[in-house]
Amino acid sequence: MEKIAFQLKNRKEQVSIPSNLGFGQIFTDHVFEMDYDSGKGWYNPQIKPLDRLSLHPATMFIHYGQAVFEGLKAFRTRDENVVIFRPDRHLQRLNNSSRRLCIPEIDVDFVLSALKELVWLEREWIPTKKGESLYIRPFIFGSDPVLGVRPSASYKLIILLSPVGAYYPEGFKPVKILATDEYVRAVRKGIGECKTPGNYAASLYASEFAKRQGFTQVLWMDGVEQKYIEEVGTMNIFIRFNNEIATPKLTGGILPGITRDSVLQILKDWEMEVTERLIPMDEVVSEFKKGNVLEIFGTGTAAIISMVGLLKYKDIEMKFDSAQPDNLAAKLFDEITSIQYGHSEDKYNWLTHVTKKEVEVA
Ligand code: COI
Repeated sequence: MEKIAFQLKNRKEQVSIPSNLGFGQIFTDHVFEMDYDSGKGWYNPQIKPLDRLSLHPATMFIHYGQAVFEGLKAFRTRDENVVIFRPDRHLQRLNNSSRRLCIPEIDVDFVLSALKELVWLEREWIPTKKGESLYIRPFIFGSDPVLGVRPSASYKLIILLSPVGAYYPEGFKPVKILATDEYVRAVRKGIGECKTPGNYAASLYASEFAKRQGFTQVLWMDGVEQKYIEEVGTMNIFIRFNNEIATPKLTGGILPGITRDSVLQILKDWEMEVTERLIPMDEVVSEFKKGNVLEIFGTGTAAIISMVGLLKYKDIEMKFDSAQPDNLAAKLFDEITSIQYGHSEDKYNWLTHVTKKEVEVA
C-alpha cells in the first residue's frame, strides 16, 4: 500500500468543543479517505480537510445501498493518553460486513495505522468528560455511476470523526423501549448481522411509531415467528433473570456487538451465570410477572450501557427501578468507562494507544 498523503488545514483557532455535545452533530477538521478500483485494489490513501462529497446522481450505493460502516470510539485518559477502544475488532467486523455485501475487504493493519494518524492529528477534539468521547465512523460505499444492479467496481472508504456525548436524548437515564411484532428489522440469513445502512432504514418506520408514543427505541423480535427477542437496532439487549443473565444468541439476524462481547467477558470474569440463547418474549413476560426479571439493559458503542426503565409488549408494561443498589447496568457502565478513561487497568487489552512516536506526519 502507498504511503498516506497529507493535506492539512491551516488551523487558525483553537479547537472549541461545545458543552452539550449530543451525538454526531459536529465533526473534526480532517478525514481519512481511500479509493478502490477493481483493477488497482485500494489506493490513494490520504488525510485531508473535511469537505462535501461530489457524487454522480447514478452513484450505486445511493440506489441499491451497497455500503457498510462501523462505529468506534477514542478517549483521552485521565493521564492524558489517547486511546481507541477495540479498533481491531471493529475493523474486522467491517470486513465481515463487507464480505456479505460484495464489498472488497480492507487491510486491517493499514487502516488501523491510518486511523491512529487521524486520531492523533485531531486529538484536541477528544472531549474529556465521562460519557463523552471521539466517535469514529469508518464507512465504505460503492461508487460506480451505473444504474444496473450488480456489485460496484469502485468504492470509497472514509473515516469521519465526531466528538459525542450521550447517544439518547435522555442522556444516561433509563430508556423506554417498545417491543414490536408488527414489523421486523431483519431475518436470519439476510443482512441483519452486518452494519449496513439497509438495516437502519428498515428500522425507521417502527421507531418513529414508537417515538410518537414516548418510547426511545424498538425491541425487535425474530423475523420469522416474532417469538424471540433479538436486538434494539442501536444496541444489543441483556435480560437479568434471578439466576441468569441472558442475551440473544447470534443467530445471523443480530449485530455481533463489540460492547456485547466486552460485557460477556466482564460478566464471566465476575463469575456470573451468563448465557447466549434464544429468549422467547413470553418467557420474559411470565418471569417478569413472577418477579424474576431484575433488570434489562442495552449495550452498544454509541449507547455504552443503557438501562431500560420501561419495556412495553402488547399491553404489558414491565417497569424497572434504576436506583436499585445492586444495579448491574450501572456497575458495567462504570467498569467499561473506567477502562476507557484509564481509571482502571486495561486487563483485557482492549485499548490501542495512540502516541506521537508512532505517528509521523509527513
Ligand atoms: C454504534 O453503536 O456505534 C452504532 O453504530 C449505533 C448507531 C449510532 C448507528
